[in-house]
Amino acid sequence: MAKIQIPRGTQDILPGTVELWQYVEEKIRDLCRRYHYQEIRTPIFEHTELFRRGVGETTDIVEKEMYSVDSRSEDALTLRPEGTAGVVRAYVEKKLYGAPNQPVKLYYIGPMFRHERPQAGRFRQFTQFGVEAIGAGDPAIDAEVIAVAYRFYEELGLSGLTVELNSVGTLADRARHRGQLLAYLNERRDQLCADCQSRIDRNPLRVLDCKVEKDQQLTKDAPSLLDYLSEESAAHFAQVKEYLELLGIPYRVNPRLVRGLDYYTLTAFEIKMQEIGAVETLCGGGRYNGLVAELGGDDVPGIGFALSIERLLLALEKKGIQLPVATSLDCYLVTQTEQAKGAVVRLLDRLRQAGLSAEMDYLGRKLKAQLKAADRLAARYTLIVGEAELEKGTVVLKDMASGEQQEVAQDELVTTLLGKLRDKESN
Ligand code: HAM
Repeated sequence: MAKIQIPRGTQDILPGTVELWQYVEEKIRDLCRRYHYQEIRTPIFEHTELFRRGVGETTDIVEKEMYSVDSRSEDALTLRPEGTAGVVRAYVEKKLYGAPNQPVKLYYIGPMFRHERPQAGRFRQFTQFGVEAIGAGDPAIDAEVIAVAYRFYEELGLSGLTVELNSVGTLADRARHRGQLLAYLNERRDQLCADCQSRIDRNPLRVLDCKVEKDQQLTKDAPSLLDYLSEESAAHFAQVKEYLELLGIPYRVNPRLVRGLDYYTLTAFEIKMQEIGAVETLCGGGRYNGLVAELGGDDVPGIGFALSIERLLLALEKKGIQLPVATSLDCYLVTQTEQAKGAVVRLLDRLRQAGLSAEMDYLGRKLKAQLKAADRLAARYTLIVGEAELEKGTVVLKDMASGEQQEVAQDELVTTLLGKLRDKESN
C-alpha cells in the first residue's frame, strides 16, 4: 500500500531535535518569569470572525492563508493564524481588565497555522512564542517588549541582529497621510506589480512593504507617515527610541516598515537577521491601541510581539550556534543470565523511583552488544549483574568515563549511585 506522507509545510520533531525545542521552551519560561509575563493558553481554533475583525479583512492572512472549516456558516471556525487576536478575545471575555495587577502581561507558546507557500523558515504549521502587555500606553513598556525579544535572542547567542523600528501612527495620523500617499501611488499605479495595484485601493500603506525590487524603487520617495505624526504620536516614538538607547538595544528606524496585520498603531518593529536567506524576519510586533475596543472591550491599549521557534532554530543553525543540550542516561543495566533478570527489573524500577534515568536490554542481546548499547546511549554508569553477583546480592558498577569498576551491595546501590552522580556534577 502507498505510504501516507506528512502534509506540506509541517514537521515531525523527532528525538535528537526535540531536545532543542525543550531547551528553548525552558529559556522562554525563565525569560518570562524575569520580565514578569504569565502564561496564557487559548484554543487552537477560534471563530473565523475573530480574525476577520482582529487581524483585518484586507490582510494576506485573512484573504488567503486561513485554514477554516465551513467558511460560509456564521459560526465558522479557523485554526489560529496568530496569537494576539485570541489573547485579546480572552482578555475581554474573561474580564482581565478587572484583574488587580495591571497592565496584564501574558505570554504564550503554541502552534499557529497559515496556508503559505512553504520554503526555508516558512511553514504551514509553526510555533510562536509571543507576549502581550495589555492595559498600558507607557512607551517604557514598548521598550520592554522589544527588550524581551532582543534579550531572548542575545541570551541564546544570536548577536548582530537588527531591530527595525517605525511608528505607524494613530488612525487620525494615517488619515492625514493617506491622501498624499494615494496621490503619489496613483501616479505610478501602472508600473507597480499587480498585488500593489490592488493594495492601493484596499490598504495603500502595504504598498510600501512590497518585496518586489522595482516597486521599492518606484516608491522610494513616497510621503513618509513619520512626517504626519501628531505631536503626541511623535513624542511617543521619541520616547521609545530614548528607552531603547538607555537599554543599549541597537535599532534602525525604517519608515517603510508596515507589518502584515491591520491592528497596529504607533510602535511597529521587526527583528531581522541578514544571513537567514529568503526569510530574514525573525520576530515582529507592535502596539495595537484599537484592538481591544474592536473586539468588544473598552478603549484599552496593548502591545506585543511574536517569533517562531522554527525561524529561531534556523538562525542558530546558520550562525553555527549549538545549544548546550545533552541527552544521556545515568545508568544502563546489563543482565548476563536469565536468572538475574528479575533482580535487574527490580533494580531498574528502584533507580527510576529515586530520580535516576535508567535503561535495560529488552532484545535479549549478548553481553557485548548490551555494553555497546550502553555506550551508544552515553550511559554514565553500567551495572552488571551476573550469576556470582546474584548469589552475593551485589552488582558490578562500571564508570563508563574512567573504566573503573566496583562491586556494590544491591541494597546500597541507589545511595552509592546518587552520591557518585552528585560528585560528578560538583566537579
Ligand atoms: P507576524 O509578523 O505575522 O506577527 O508573525 C510573527 C513571527 O512569526 C514572524 O516574525 C515569524 O518569526 C513567525 N512566522 C510567521 N509566519 C510564519 C511561518 N509561516 N513559518 C514560520 N514562522 C512564521 C504576528 O503573528 C503578531 N501576532 C505578532 C504580535 C503580537 N503583534 C503584537 N503582538
